[in-house]
Amino acid sequence: MPSETKQNGRVGAALVVGGGIGGMQAALDLAGGGIKVYLADSKASIGGVMAQLDKTFPTNDCAMCTMAPRLVEIGRHKDIEILTLSDVERIEGRPGNFTVTISRRPRFVDESKCTGCGTCVANCPTQTRVQPVEVPAAEIEPSLRVKVANIIARHKNRQGPLMPILQEVNAALNYFPEAVLKYISQETGYPFTHVYRIATFYSAFSVVPRGKYVINVCMGTTCYVRGSERLMDRFAETLKIRPEETTPDMLVTLKGVRCIGCCGLAPAVMVGDSVYGRLTVKEVAGIAKKYAGGNNHGKVNAG
Ligand code: FES
Repeated sequence: MPSETKQNGRVGAALVVGGGIGGMQAALDLAGGGIKVYLADSKASIGGVMAQLDKTFPTNDCAMCTMAPRLVEIGRHKDIEILTLSDVERIEGRPGNFTVTISRRPRFVDESKCTGCGTCVANCPTQTRVQPVEVPAAEIEPSLRVKVANIIARHKNRQGPLMPILQEVNAALNYFPEAVLKYISQETGYPFTHVYRIATFYSAFSVVPRGKYVINVCMGTTCYVRGSERLMDRFAETLKIRPEETTPDMLVTLKGVRCIGCCGLAPAVMVGDSVYGRLTVKEVAGIAKKYAGGNNHGKVNAG
């Protein structure tokens, strides 16, 4: 690796070994200080262990939401060069002026041309092909079929139709019965596993029946440190259900969610379009009873 020497003799390039979340942040900090950074990782991609996680302890924040902005920034940063499939062989010199020898294993694709489309994987002639498991045809009630078919027809020909279809079906049914997901899969051509993965990823979606009103108590970091756990306990006590449960009359579902985007109002709770910000434990019973009593005209407390 060539040293990048400045006029005063100091080396102006840094090597970060390990592309996990710590390595990525270190690379961004160094590059932000005007230093050329080589970010090396022995794996085929950066991201480390965090890329394999769904949520992080103790706040259950979405791991990918933490990592994705850094991945994008690193990918676009002109002063960061990513060296994947790379192992450090030798380090020579002294602190502040050293040379590192790195060996890179072959990737077998031209990285300058690869867009990550996955077409080569789908058409790989040497790959052992496994027949996909047949998903049985969806047994869907006729009136429901018509409703969902109309939604699919409205979006089928646009680019990336799956998300708007799922959003509209979710708005109409409040949850996704399994037969509906299978039907969407059959009609759109998306594999069932793909449809199911999206339907279970977003907290706005559910594959189990939910109440008419969903009380979303934000358990994101800012709300958590400002006492959202106590709010959740009080809601559970008032509604006589536990988090993620629905009242027997199917009126209210209590749910813990991650950051609802109004951290300035923490701790915050969202019901439909209504946001209750800077909520205190004392106010919880009133809000719970309002929805449990079937009255959805909740005040919008955005102040
Ligand atoms: S953490 Fe609760 S709104 Fe952001």
